[in-house]
Amino acid sequence: MAKNTSLSTESYKGVRDFYPEDMAIQNYIFNTWKKTVEKFGYVEYTASILEPAELYRAKSGEEIVNEQTYTFVDRGDREVTLRPEMTPTVARLVAGKKRDLGFPLRWYSIPNVFRYERPQRGRLREHWQLNVDAFGVPGTEIDVEAITLAYEIMKAFGANDSDFGIKISSRKLLNAIFSTWYELDEQKSKALQKLIDKKKKMPEEVFAVEAEKIVGKPFSFLNTQSSEYQEAMAIPVIREAKEELDSIIETLNKRGIKNVEYDETLIRGFDYYTGTVFEVFDTNPENNRSLFGGGRYDELLALFGGESLPAFGFGMGDVTIRDFLETRNLLPKYTSSASYMICIMDKSATDYADQVAKELRNEGKNVCVNYSYKSIGDQIKSALKQSIQYCIVIGEDEVKNKTYTIKDLTKEA
Ligand code: HAM
Repeated sequence: MAKNTSLSTESYKGVRDFYPEDMAIQNYIFNTWKKTVEKFGYVEYTASILEPAELYRAKSGEEIVNEQTYTFVDRGDREVTLRPEMTPTVARLVAGKKRDLGFPLRWYSIPNVFRYERPQRGRLREHWQLNVDAFGVPGTEIDVEAITLAYEIMKAFGANDSDFGIKISSRKLLNAIFSTWYELDEQKSKALQKLIDKKKKMPEEVFAVEAEKIVGKPFSFLNTQSSEYQEAMAIPVIREAKEELDSIIETLNKRGIKNVEYDETLIRGFDYYTGTVFEVFDTNPENNRSLFGGGRYDELLALFGGESLPAFGFGMGDVTIRDFLETRNLLPKYTSSASYMICIMDKSATDYADQVAKELRNEGKNVCVNYSYKSIGDQIKSALKQSIQYCIVIGEDEVKNKTYTIKDLTKEA
């Protein structure tokens, strides 16, 4: 290596390093997720980060596959992708063992996933994502349960109902309207879906013009007061899809989840959704963004041959929830998992210090010994810097009398 060139200490663009304070937050988030989903009977699985690239081509959506995946060719000429999401993987796992598994099946995982996106607040190139998926329930009971679980996760983090909202919509309803009312083919339906997905980011007039281009006439369906909307509701498939959605909202309301509302512009990016879709969003006007979401995807498993299987799930990222908790002061204060530091005054006290450490460890305490032999003031400073709560100073007297005193550094002036 050439002289005077030093390596950067920066991480790769869009990914994070987790120093102990960050790791503690990560663990807190993961543990809260685990505790809550396990209460609903979900069990944990995982899989490799690497997947064959073709897994995502079939159903994930063009943007993800063409613009956002990390894909490379391995030494055996296979196209490999770092998973950008977990849903195709879990579908592959369940389809692969369908005969041996008991249904309804409830699985969860907390994988890291990679997307080549422009890094910005709430969007990175690597994030961890709680994935909660249930298989084998065709009825809306599971839609209600999954949304309830999403709500309970927010409550477990200490959020109030007014801190977040749940938007819900139905791909089934949209598809029925597109095909039955507007008689759009698949390509046009997809184009219109994409446009509706971006509706909130464009002026009303632009949306109206673009939608008319696709539909061939004014597209007024999103106005639930319009006469066209009312007429469309007379068509059985459309009406039934809307009634199904209404009944989910009603059931949630009845069970005390009131911050849920129909948002006719909610689409969600993936092509595999077939029914209810929902998204949880932050109500803070400064951070008015989606926190997480998911929905029903009843056809995805059919890609692996055999029959399809009803499926409903959601993905919740660690980046957006951390921002949410930080802005609301809902994160616990950091203290080190090492609770005790033993400070040694003189090298001759080392044996006894190690013995004390051993005794405390036997009692289940987490103990580190400071072997720097610096001044006690310096050693305590180091303990404070590391957020270690207790310190024990071992000197000549302690060795002689076989005693020690525990000092709580959080109570020191
Ligand atoms: P998604 O909406 O693409 O859905 O991602 C789910 C959540 O992951 C997002 O709402 C957000 O919290 C987080 N997320 C996504 N991309 C990023 C990013 N670039 N940086 C930080 N966080 C991000 C899915 O991935 C579906 N597979 C979820 C699902 C599971 N549907 C059914 N089962």
